[in-house]
Amino acid sequence: MRAFASRFRMAQERAASSVHGTAFPVISIGSVKSAGASTLALTIASASASTRTPVFLIDAGNTHDLSTWASKPGKPIQIEVAKCEKTNQLAGLVREGIERRAVVIIDAGTRPEVLRAATRLAATVLIPLRFSPLSAFAAALTDQLLATELEGTTKRRCFVATAIAQIPSRIARAVEAEVERSTTERFPVGLAQRAAYEAPFMFGGTLFTLSDDTAPGIARAQDEARAMAANLGVLHSAGSILASRIADTIRHDRRVAA
Ligand SMILES: Nc1ncnc2c1ncn2[C@@H]1O[C@H](COP(=O)(O)OP(=O)(O)O)[C@@H](O)[C@H]1O
Ligand SMILES: [Mg+2]
Repeated sequence: MRAFASRFRMAQERAASSVHGTAFPVISIGSVKSAGASTLALTIASASASTRTPVFLIDAGNTHDLSTWASKPGKPIQIEVAKCEKTNQLAGLVREGIERRAVVIIDAGTRPEVLRAATRLAATVLIPLRFSPLSAFAAALTDQLLATELEGTTKRRCFVATAIAQIPSRIARAVEAEVERSTTERFPVGLAQRAAYEAPFMFGGTLFTLSDDTAPGIARAQDEARAMAANLGVLHSAGSILASRIADTIRHDRRVAA
């Protein structure tokens, strides 16, 4: 019994070190208020998958929208969706994604406990921010909530603007005032308000498999998705990603052996 317990602990520590210590892309997305986390997660995953990069999408969101999406037709074979029902399953799922050499994207939803756990496991933390004062308030709150988890780490944390619509400049200023106290990075690419982003959730498939008839504005949405994924380093040609994964694996195995 004790042997099992200590083996289990070792496996957990290994999981943690392989998450924090190597360049495996693990991205956590969420905010204490619904602000486009699932849309952002699927958009980044879709751009990655369109370059034949395997993606392990962990659905820890409250309403499991990504699991519902996965049950619809048109899911690319490169995207696997794993449902996470309990916070204590999250580390194991991240480990599974890393073992598959996949880009791991966690939809952490809105629950603070899940957001914290996902932040501990991720290398990059994205806080979606709808450009409205209430959403900005929630994003600032999320930023504070996660600050303690990120202290002393080199993890990247960003506000990402989602569903960007034309709003009066007075409101834009109020939004900016809400988040300006934080030094957290503003992600250089956002998602405009476009029907194309909603289409995959309605019809299944992705921005890279649907057509403009079903997903109006799809070409611009694809551009945003690609730019976002490129900035996160999860958009590669099949050849270069294979080479970098092999290098990562060798480095990781050496570190484990040392
Ligand atoms: N860029 C966007 N353009 C249009 N609609 C969007 C966009 N981002 C999110 N939405 C819509 O906003 C709603 C909430 O988005 P969702 O991704 O489910 O947020 P969360 O996962 O944070 O609850 C959904 O109906 C979604 O389709
Ligand atoms: Mg969601």
